[in-house]
Amino acid sequence: MQEKVREKIEELQLQFQQEINGALDLEAVEKLRIRFLGKKGEVTALMRGMSQFSAEERPLFGKLLNEFKSSAEQILENRKKELKEKDASLRWEKERLDITLPGRPFPLGRKHPLTIISEEIEEIFSCMGFQIAEGPEVETDYYNFEALNIPKEHPARDMQDSFYINPEVLLRTHTSPMQVRTMEVMAPQLPVRIICPGKVYRRDDDVTHSPMFHQVEGLVVDKGISLADLKGILLLFTREMFGKGRELRFRPSFFPFTEPSAEVDISCIICGGSGCRTCGDTGWLEILGSGMVHPRVLEVSGYNPEEVTGYAFGIGIERIAMLKYGIDDIRLFYQNDLRMLQQY
Ligand code: FA5
Ligand code: MG
Repeated sequence: MQEKVREKIEELQLQFQQEINGALDLEAVEKLRIRFLGKKGEVTALMRGMSQFSAEERPLFGKLLNEFKSSAEQILENRKKELKEKDASLRWEKERLDITLPGRPFPLGRKHPLTIISEEIEEIFSCMGFQIAEGPEVETDYYNFEALNIPKEHPARDMQDSFYINPEVLLRTHTSPMQVRTMEVMAPQLPVRIICPGKVYRRDDDVTHSPMFHQVEGLVVDKGISLADLKGILLLFTREMFGKGRELRFRPSFFPFTEPSAEVDISCIICGGSGCRTCGDTGWLEILGSGMVHPRVLEVSGYNPEEVTGYAFGIGIERIAMLKYGIDDIRLFYQNDLRMLQQY
């Protein structure tokens, strides 16, 4: 009589055994658990169907079914554990590092030609005893114009030429505001001997003019400084930068903050002086503005123009780089074309 009970349970066991052998991943094992042991699973169904057995058979059936249940639970648990371990070791296989493999090559950056030239200029002046100062690119009207003796009606103040942020604040149009800022901090110490490299901004745009470009300001203030000192230092600078061969030209000019003033041109490297689009057919390229510091600028900055004199200059870094490298269009510096940048 009890044979029927045992048969039923054995059938269940056999079925479970077959299925568990075929369950190759965690998802399949979980499905199996639900199918056999879940609320609506095989075991529950058998429990419900208990009435088919006689009163004597039922206790044995219940006992065997419970035994099956706990052994099945154990088997499912073990299987899950096994699969999880296998999974982890597979992943380890996949992710394992082979430290003998050669490394991936790093793309190597290099310095921008303007950085190279700026550093070269800084080096030349450092060797001549200049200190390096830096100042704000967003500047007040006072430092950019007013303190530099640039009157209200001066064309440089025109909204057409400068990038204003509001009527009192603008992007500096040159590095000259650093003359005043430096002297204000240093007065009355002597000597003042600084250069100040940095970005400047103007509403310009052609082959030799860019809306953002770089200048290096130079300023020397001491007792007995003369125009000869200015000429001497600029001659030394251009010789260091370009070698002895290049021609230099001092051209009288006008800046409200220097008196007298001069601009310095250098013979055009592109055409050798015969005239081309880079030098505007003149054979010369302007590289800097300069002059003797105006007495009024010394005065507003805290120095007595009766006792001291000074000179100042503002070099266009792009122009120097163009001449040095033979680049005929200033815009090439800012287009980030690797074919251009990789040459330096
Ligand atoms: C000035 O900016 C004066 N602050 C220079 C100065 C300093 C004079 C100290 C006296 C004493 P200028 O506007 O000429 O001057 O510009 C100086 C140099 O900057 C020029 O010689 C030129 O080499 C360069 N430069 C001017 N405008 C541009 C531009 N848009 N793009 C590239 N370079 C420029
Ligand atoms: Mg000029």
